[in-house]
Amino acid sequence: MAKRDILSVADFTPDEVEKLVQQTVKTKKDKWPQVLAGKNIALLFEKPSLRTKMSFDLAVRQLGGYAIYMSPDEVGLGTREAVPDVAHVLSRYVQGIVARTFAHKSLETLAAYSTVPVINALSDHEHPCQALADLVTIFEKKGKFKGLTLAYMGDGNNVANSLLLACSMVGINFLIASPEDYSLKDNVLKVANKYAEQSGSQIMLLEEPAMAAKDADIIYTDVWTSMGQEAEHEQRCIAFAKYQVDDKLISYAKKDAILMHPLPAHHGEEVEVGIIDRFRSVIFDQAENRLHFQRTLLAELYK
Ligand code: NVA
Repeated sequence: MAKRDILSVADFTPDEVEKLVQQTVKTKKDKWPQVLAGKNIALLFEKPSLRTKMSFDLAVRQLGGYAIYMSPDEVGLGTREAVPDVAHVLSRYVQGIVARTFAHKSLETLAAYSTVPVINALSDHEHPCQALADLVTIFEKKGKFKGLTLAYMGDGNNVANSLLLACSMVGINFLIASPEDYSLKDNVLKVANKYAEQSGSQIMLLEEPAMAAKDADIIYTDVWTSMGQEAEHEQRCIAFAKYQVDDKLISYAKKDAILMHPLPAHHGEEVEVGIIDRFRSVIFDQAENRLHFQRTLLAELYK
């Protein structure tokens, strides 16, 4: 059977996404199939990680497999060792590669040269496992997708790209409020618009946070400065200042709106200090669902 790489949310069909979400909700407490018994999975990380590393490691163990972690210091993708060589070598040792890279291109090269599946554990372009696990959380909290409105505040980054694709596939309206220079790029929008035509989801790019937040079911935000952009921190804090999620912004949303964030959070930047504790935030459910979703994904890929 041909190997299957998961580099983008768009590597699934909308139907597969719905099924993976339902399967995740249904099998959280099951006896999980030991599909990874006797199999090894490499966790190759160019950037730090708490949730992704822990949840993938646990998911592999829960399916009977063994995970081998390589830290940012050890990886040297494209510097210590050419990416195709890394792909060839790992393919001789392990049955899958979960990789977190700076450049999305590195993931594509890994996938092109490896003979085992490559899963995106975050790149500068996408964070598909986060977005799909977030659909699980949204479904559990709201009981549906169609007709919901998610208002995303801030940077049109990796998390925003994957979330846009995921929402447009399942019929969640996606409104993003961001400064013009930091909005979503045409290439992702083009793909999302195609899904939206099918699902009925509305996509809107706005500049005013209050307009996006109005009557939203979900307020979602992420850091203004992603890993690898630290040199731009000051400039980004200025550009994004009015996009902070605070009590006032949340007051525009529906009364039962929830607050989502993929974490890590920069308290005092994209989220007002204390808002996560004061408001109906589901961020730790999101973190837990990473494990459940990724276990379902691996069980599906290796069944
Ligand atoms: N946009 C953030 C997400 C972290 C989970 C980053 O790339 O650093």
